[in-house]
Amino acid sequence: MIKKYALLTLAFLIFSAAIYFVLEKNKVFNEPEVILPLTKSWEKVVPNQKVPHGLVSLKSEDCGTCHKEYYAEWKTSTHAQAWVDQQFQAELKKESSPFMCINCHIPLQNQQEFIVKGLINGDIYKPVKEKNPLFDSELQKEGINCASCHVRNNVIIGSSGSTLAPHPVKKDPIHLSETLCISCHNANAVVTPTLACTFQTGDEWKAGPFYGKKNCISCHMPETHRSLMEGFPAKKSHFHNFPASGIPKHDTLKPAMLKSLEFYSSNVKKSYKLSDTLKFSLTLKNEHAGHRVPSGDPERFLLIDLVLKTSEGKIIAKTQGRVGESWEWYPVAKKLSDNNLNPGEARSYNFKQLLNAKGKYTLETKVTKHRMTEEAAKYNKIDSSYPRSISIYEKSYGFEVK
Ligand code: HEC
Ligand code: HEC
Ligand code: HEC
Ligand code: HEC
Ligand code: HEC
Repeated sequence: MIKKYALLTLAFLIFSAAIYFVLEKNKVFNEPEVILPLTKSWEKVVPNQKVPHGLVSLKSEDCGTCHKEYYAEWKTSTHAQAWVDQQFQAELKKESSPFMCINCHIPLQNQQEFIVKGLINGDIYKPVKEKNPLFDSELQKEGINCASCHVRNNVIIGSSGSTLAPHPVKKDPIHLSETLCISCHNANAVVTPTLACTFQTGDEWKAGPFYGKKNCISCHMPETHRSLMEGFPAKKSHFHNFPASGIPKHDTLKPAMLKSLEFYSSNVKKSYKLSDTLKFSLTLKNEHAGHRVPSGDPERFLLIDLVLKTSEGKIIAKTQGRVGESWEWYPVAKKLSDNNLNPGEARSYNFKQLLNAKGKYTLETKVTKHRMTEEAAKYNKIDSSYPRSISIYEKSYGFEVK
């Protein structure tokens, strides 16, 4: 009997040792899990905010019941599209998009379903998530809304410290300065080998001729004089439609455009002699932007098309110029070229053609601004209701060769 128990005990010990060995081995092969804190600014969000006293919600729509003009302007801005944007939604669904993609597009914690506590072993694809009890899906749809810029520590941040408001106001002109804009409009990081975040509008501005003279706010939120709410005395105020590229997000939504380029062209005569050479030049000059053009999103580019046609519409000759960056994303993200126009920089596109047949001709000149290439739109399965480009300059010259 004793012998039988001894054998059973021995068998149990061997079994336990085997299990311990297997577990121990796995422990050796699996790296121990350490949760590391978030470090980069864009890994963090603005903490959950409570609704400031005197207000019913954090929603722009509710701010808009009093600040009617502000709401109407903001509604047409690209900031209001930062979450619903078709390309953004398409990219967000990809496995290659890490958690922090949403942090500049829906910057308030209240707009995010999960609170990210840290990263397992610092891996951006392994965030430690917890359900957010204050998540508001309506607020999420608003993208960069009034509260994104104006609510901190549960109060409204203003730049004048008004005492007339029915909600608490904290005066903080430093928060409401270009530093706020730059917190999102300047990120320079290689997130993963094939994913780079390169928005350097802030650095471009600091290096340019407008630094110290005009800033993000003076150009993109020009000053006006009006009441902040109907029935209140008019005072210093700023437009909130954030005009810039003017490339719309839908066929129906047209954000305002700010003009950066001036165009200078040479003359085309009404008539030429056979065997003359037509010489033409179109110059683009970045006169009004406080940074490079294009700026921000590395996918943006301009095309400059100069096309000579016969009166029947047959193309005789054409040239095309391109202003923008070009990137290779695989196997590692790498910028191949970049000829964006610096502030104040001018560039000429020339056209030269021997006129060796009599008849009537037209020289068509056109400049278009593009959000993305057709290939990128196809790759992201973006439908045709999402505009890819707009025309920013068009001029035709008719002439005769006699
Ligand atoms: C019930 C009406 C009402 C609502 C709702 C409301 N406000 Fe106001 N707000 C006012 C009034 C009135 C003023 C003061 C106007 C003045 O000083 O002439 C004001 C002032 C402000 C100011 C300027 C403060 C300063 O001192 O510069 C900001 C910014 C502001 N509101 C933002 C918001 C935001 C953001 C929301 C929504 C989260 C909001 N307001 C909701 C009525 C309202
Ligand atoms: C929380 C991050 C964030 C902050 C803060 C922010 N922006 Fe933006 N901004 C964005 C994002 C994201 C977009 C693009 C949205 C889209 O295209 O869907 C954008 C778009 C814009 C555009 C439109 C660009 C175009 O293509 O036409 C302008 C202009 C702009 N922002 C200016 C500003 C200014 C000025 C400030 C400061 C007062 C500011 N932004 C603050 C994130 C931010
Ligand atoms: C991208 C950031 C941003 C967003 C979004 C935004 N604002 Fe502002 N707002 C500012 C800045 C910056 C100023 C201060 C400009 C200054 O004083 O130089 C300001 C100023 C104001 C003021 C004070 C008066 C004035 O015009 O200077 C009011 C009122 C205001 N905003 C209301 C709103 C409301 C309402 C919304 C949403 C419909 C909103 N803001 C959305 C950045 C923003
Ligand atoms: C001197 C005026 C001026 C200043 C200062 C300025 N901008 Fe602009 N910005 C413009 C103009 C004009 C455009 C339109 C460019 C174009 O033709 O597409 C523009 C375009 C943009 C765009 C869209 C870029 C694109 O290629 O589609 C963004 C984003 C932007 N600005 C953000 C900012 C931010 C952020 C700052 C501050 C760091 C700033 N701007 C400072 C005038 C200015
Ligand atoms: C540091 C802040 C920041 C982060 C993080 C960020 N974005 Fe953006 N995003 C911006 C700004 C600013 C713009 C507007 C740029 C412009 O118009 O010049 C923008 C614009 C966009 C657009 C609109 C492009 C267009 O043509 O209108 C898409 C799509 C986008 N981002 C996708 C992403 C994805 C995917 C990620 C994660 C890999 C991401 N963003 C992370 C700041 C950010």
